Amino acid sequence: MSTREIVICSVLPYANGPLHLGHMVGFLQADFWARFLRLQGHTVWHVSGDDAHGTPIMLHAEKEGLTPEALIAQIKTLHERDFADFNIGFDNFHTTHSSENKQLTEEIYLRLKDNHYIFQKTIKQAFDPEKNMFLPDRYVKGECPRCHAQDQYGDNCEACGATYSPTDLINPKSALSGATPIEKESTHFFFDLPQFEDMLRTFLASGHLQTEVRNKLNEWFAAGLHPWDISRDAPYFGFEIPGEVDKYFYVWLDAPIGYMASLLNLSLRNPLLNFPEIWHKDSKVELHHFIGKDIIYFHGLFWPAVLYGCGYRLPNSIFANGFLTINGYKMSKSRGTFIKARTYLDHLNPEYLRYYFATKLSHNIDDLDFHTDDFIARVNSDLVGKFVNIASRCAKIINGTFDSQLSSSLLQPEMFNHFVTKGKQIAELYEHRDFSKAMREIMNLADEANQMIDAQKPWALVKDQNTVARAQDVCTLALNLFRQLMIYLKPVLPQLAAKSEDFFAIAPQTWDDSEKPLLNHRINTYEPLLQRIDTLKVNAMMDAEQQPIPTPATLKDAKPEITIDDFNKIDLRVATVISAEAVEGADKLIKLSVELDGHVRQIFAGIKSAYAPEALIGQQVIVVANLKPRQMRFGLSEGMVLCASGDEKLYIVQPQQPIDTGTVVR
Ligand code: 2FM
Ligand code: ZN
Repeated sequence: MSTREIVICSVLPYANGPLHLGHMVGFLQADFWARFLRLQGHTVWHVSGDDAHGTPIMLHAEKEGLTPEALIAQIKTLHERDFADFNIGFDNFHTTHSSENKQLTEEIYLRLKDNHYIFQKTIKQAFDPEKNMFLPDRYVKGECPRCHAQDQYGDNCEACGATYSPTDLINPKSALSGATPIEKESTHFFFDLPQFEDMLRTFLASGHLQTEVRNKLNEWFAAGLHPWDISRDAPYFGFEIPGEVDKYFYVWLDAPIGYMASLLNLSLRNPLLNFPEIWHKDSKVELHHFIGKDIIYFHGLFWPAVLYGCGYRLPNSIFANGFLTINGYKMSKSRGTFIKARTYLDHLNPEYLRYYFATKLSHNIDDLDFHTDDFIARVNSDLVGKFVNIASRCAKIINGTFDSQLSSSLLQPEMFNHFVTKGKQIAELYEHRDFSKAMREIMNLADEANQMIDAQKPWALVKDQNTVARAQDVCTLALNLFRQLMIYLKPVLPQLAAKSEDFFAIAPQTWDDSEKPLLNHRINTYEPLLQRIDTLKVNAMMDAEQQPIPTPATLKDAKPEITIDDFNKIDLRVATVISAEAVEGADKLIKLSVELDGHVRQIFAGIKSAYAPEALIGQQVIVVANLKPRQMRFGLSEGMVLCASGDEKLYIVQPQQPIDTGTVVR
């Protein structure tokens, strides 16, 4: 097999906060692939780095009272620690705020300019007159022009999904200062993406992209490509555009160049890495990107166009992954499903998650769920119950009865060879990044190994002088099968593999070592290789991310705190609505007659936006019975119907029928 030289670029996380489990999906996937390719003997350069520029990072630093440089340095240290502890083996983790990236970004910009792919245009943008800065769309908030929901961002409405520009918002406000933004002109620099349409269509057809990625890109072609605004005005944290005053490169221009910068930085330390050769348009070095599905646009269109526009090579693949949900929910801090990488590491072994993600990752961009019960069951049953079980059952016999010595021949060479053949299929699955299928094949083989042990019963064979030698052969075969599976799992479980190599007293194994049996060899004393997941630890991890229950003071539009004595003054009663009608001249009011303890009362309730009057007739409601009657413009209101707001809607509070406990009345 000829060896390949392969560059793997993992997405650059923003230097704006901690890594969470959603981030780890893509990094682990790329790490599995990189480790697999290295085991196969290929030369791999796996790089990433922090994405350190842009307005959010500038504002975050300001809020923390730090310089942006200090903030991104702190975050980089945290990110690197998380990656190291998850065993993500980058060859280099750099930053876009680096001398290499500045140099490359300027070079690329000047090349694109020389090649007539850059033009200038004056545009109008929202400007905060108090902060004295242009506002990115996300920093303008106001009322949605379509559905009139309040507090919506300047680019799209989260309530109705409408997309628009900040100038369309009703009553827009700067999210930074609260000031009403003004429109101001500024000259921007544009990258002329439409010039690359033919080239991009050819790239798209080249077959190196996932079907979903190709479909997405086709949709964008159909909608028409637009020039891309690559500049931002001061104040901005980024690189200044050479030859201009107070103009900066937009973060998304220098971010992917950060992949190159990470490689350039690595090449300064590692003479084997030939940086110019990687980018040559006829390069033989493979270039693969691992990204989240939300940034296909940047990697599938802009990045290839920028590379091509400079006369550089194109990526061999852009591999996108789906989002992570936690127990079926989106990651959300308020719901307690935003699990930081560090929180996981504080409670659980990284290899559990590595394996669990491997069982879920396929070649498509579907979202995947970290389901805690499934996670515990899968790891405990597969890794501990099936895989490690092979070693623990047989190692003790070899250690105890045979002075740790393996037999000198294989009991069933055909079984070993069957595992070799399966190993070739597993390698193909890894190569195609079908990790979940690879894990399934490996666990099927683990079942076969356990069945062989069950059938041979070495624990019984050792008890009889006539069969004791066979026990050594059975255990030698079993441990050889275990060793093959350990090699197949090594890209996913490097720590477990290293511990197993120590136990076998063998050098770090490569993929090919799985084809040679280990015979006539003295192993070390077996120590447990992996513990079962303790449910309590998983619960503790989930608890650690629970947000405190909001106290009244933290609720939106909160009223002052009351005591239990205040509360006890309220007399709550169940009543039945006997009539309900809209009140003429009042937009919100419904006039209700309710029956309460045999008396009829009239109540005006401001619930017309949520309920049609006729829908309320016959409903039970809860009434504040001792509220002082109030003379309103439309009549006397003799109480109040309890309502509560939630999900931005209004609900009447209704009694829940007591649950029938099955008590028999005698
Ligand atoms: O979406 C993100 O998290 C970006 N920081 C990814 C940048 S990847 C590359 F292009 F730099
Ligand atoms: Zn809307």
